[in-house]
Amino acid sequence: MSSPPPITSTIANFQAKLSSISLGNVCKVLAVSGLALFTLYVFVFSPPNYQLSDFLTTLKQKFPINNPSSSPSLPPADPPTNISHIVFSIVGSMNTWKYKRYYSESWWRPNVTRGHVFFERPPSGEFLPWSNSSAPFRVNEDISSFAVYPKIRWRDQVRIFRTVMESFREGGPNARWYVMTDDDTIIFVDNLVKTLGKYDDKKPWYIGMNSECVKSNFDFSYDMAFGGAGYALSYPLAALVAKRLDGCIERYPYLRVSDQMLFQCLSDLGFSITHEKGFHQVDLRGDASGFLSYHPQTPLLSLHHIDLINPIFPNMDRPAAINHLMKAGAVDQSRLLQQTICYHRPLNWSFSMSWGYSAHIYEAIMARNYLKRPLETFAPFERTKAPVFMFNTRWGVLNNPCEAPHVLYFESIERDREDRIVTTYLRKWARNLPPCAVYGNHSAESVSKIRVFSSAKVPLEAEGVECCDVRMVDMNVTEVSYRPCYHGEVMA
Ligand SMILES: *[C@@H]1O[C@H](CO)[C@@H](O)[C@H](O)[C@H]1NC(C)=O
Ligand SMILES: *[C@@H]1O[C@H](CO)[C@@H](O)[C@H](O)[C@H]1NC(C)=O
Ligand SMILES: *[C@@H]1O[C@H](CO)[C@@H](O)[C@H](O)[C@H]1NC(C)=O
Ligand SMILES: *[C@@H]1O[C@H](CO)[C@@H](O)[C@H](O)[C@H]1NC(C)=O
Ligand SMILES: *[C@@H]1O[C@H](CO)[C@@H](O)[C@H](O)[C@H]1NC(C)=O
Ligand SMILES: *[C@@H]1O[C@H](CO)[C@@H](O)[C@H](O)[C@H]1NC(C)=O
Repeated sequence: MSSPPPITSTIANFQAKLSSISLGNVCKVLAVSGLALFTLYVFVFSPPNYQLSDFLTTLKQKFPINNPSSSPSLPPADPPTNISHIVFSIVGSMNTWKYKRYYSESWWRPNVTRGHVFFERPPSGEFLPWSNSSAPFRVNEDISSFAVYPKIRWRDQVRIFRTVMESFREGGPNARWYVMTDDDTIIFVDNLVKTLGKYDDKKPWYIGMNSECVKSNFDFSYDMAFGGAGYALSYPLAALVAKRLDGCIERYPYLRVSDQMLFQCLSDLGFSITHEKGFHQVDLRGDASGFLSYHPQTPLLSLHHIDLINPIFPNMDRPAAINHLMKAGAVDQSRLLQQTICYHRPLNWSFSMSWGYSAHIYEAIMARNYLKRPLETFAPFERTKAPVFMFNTRWGVLNNPCEAPHVLYFESIERDREDRIVTTYLRKWARNLPPCAVYGNHSAESVSKIRVFSSAKVPLEAEGVECCDVRMVDMNVTEVSYRPCYHGEVMA
């Protein structure tokens, strides 16, 4: 770290200069010195979270200065993490593969994504020859000759637990991350690559997320990564686990769930979880639309338990609904399910969009603070006493005309002539409530289509948020244009 020059001497020089020049030049000097001081501030002090504007970026390109992190005495930084550095292990079962294969096939990219689906036994004849749209398969090792075998209570869970190690032993060049998922999990690969790229893969990392339900976390641990949601181990940690795993089985032969085995194993070795909120265990039942329409402000990484919830789009079966979401995900994962809010003030309406999934219209002005809570359209995995969920929800509001949204679902995606992405959302049913009187009785029942325009060039940055403007084309069609928020723009 280079030490900044003393500011007082800079200012003293500046004052000396000022007193030696004629008044006519003062403005020019002020402007030039102001720029110099600002530039000095930005380059020398280099505050860690300072966002350079385009103007300054240009300046930096034109007048490159040596900054300590790129000095030639240090080894060159590794190339950025890409899809080839991640090794996936999909935990499968031959008994259900017939129904579940579609879920991993929806995100698997043949010859691009690395890794395997693991089974308890070799595939039966109906799956041979093995489909080239599925991940290549492996059969987990037989452990029946292990001394601890008679003591193991849940043998299938131990087989699943050992998958981390078996995947690591497959080897292969340049692996930085080992990612475990279930066969009923959808992974959003582009977002995962970017998210893992934030971490130093030379250090030990255990990155995942807990359940949406308080009870599940209480029963296992708030600090356990739920394997259905998917979790990532950096190379050094996967290497260590591979070495120590069978010892953990000997210590904990009675544990009921593979995720718990890994969690206890890692705890005993001194490692704890780093939460990434985009992994979703989806311990929910029924209509998950109120969850998917109010996603936390973080990139979408996974969705699990697709079989536990209703198909995520109306009038489609589960695989078709997932593939429909993937149409939007193939174009722009950075915005997928990300919430954008704007208002139509003349009619007192609020719009909340979940990009690529849904658009909700409220006949009231609602603050972001309230609108970002999931709408409780779903039930928990298990009925329990409150508090049920790990997040605040809006509940008991679906019969209230001022609180219930008009719901439109993602229909199609295209690019327009101005190189914007246009997603279209359609109403599938009437809301069947009177208009909200308190906010002026303006019914939104006639709006049957919303077109949303977003940037094709600039992805949404992780944890970022955009603002938008609403335009009524006519009584039935509305257009919403995404744009960067103004500095300090308030959503309320
Ligand atoms: C990923 O990065 C490696 C360098 O580690 C590079 O050789 C490879 O071409 C990259 N692959 C892709 C798909 O970008
Ligand atoms: C994928 O890899 C397999 C085996 O390496 C090869 O036979 C096949 O042609 C490849 N497919 C594509 C689309 O590259
Ligand atoms: C997958 O197999 C089919 C034939 O079964 C073939 O037409 C297709 O090209 C293969 N795709 C890849 C990616 O190898
Ligand atoms: C909007 O709602 C407020 C009350 O919240 C009301 O006073 C105002 O008249 C409404 N505006 C319109 C145009 O209906
Ligand atoms: C609101 O509109 C409904 C018809 O949609 C009408 O019956 C009702 O009288 C209106 N209420 C007010 C306060 O204007
Ligand atoms: C607009 O919607 C209304 C009712 O929702 C419908 O009667 C009307 O035909 C629609 N108009 C157009 C132009 O689609």
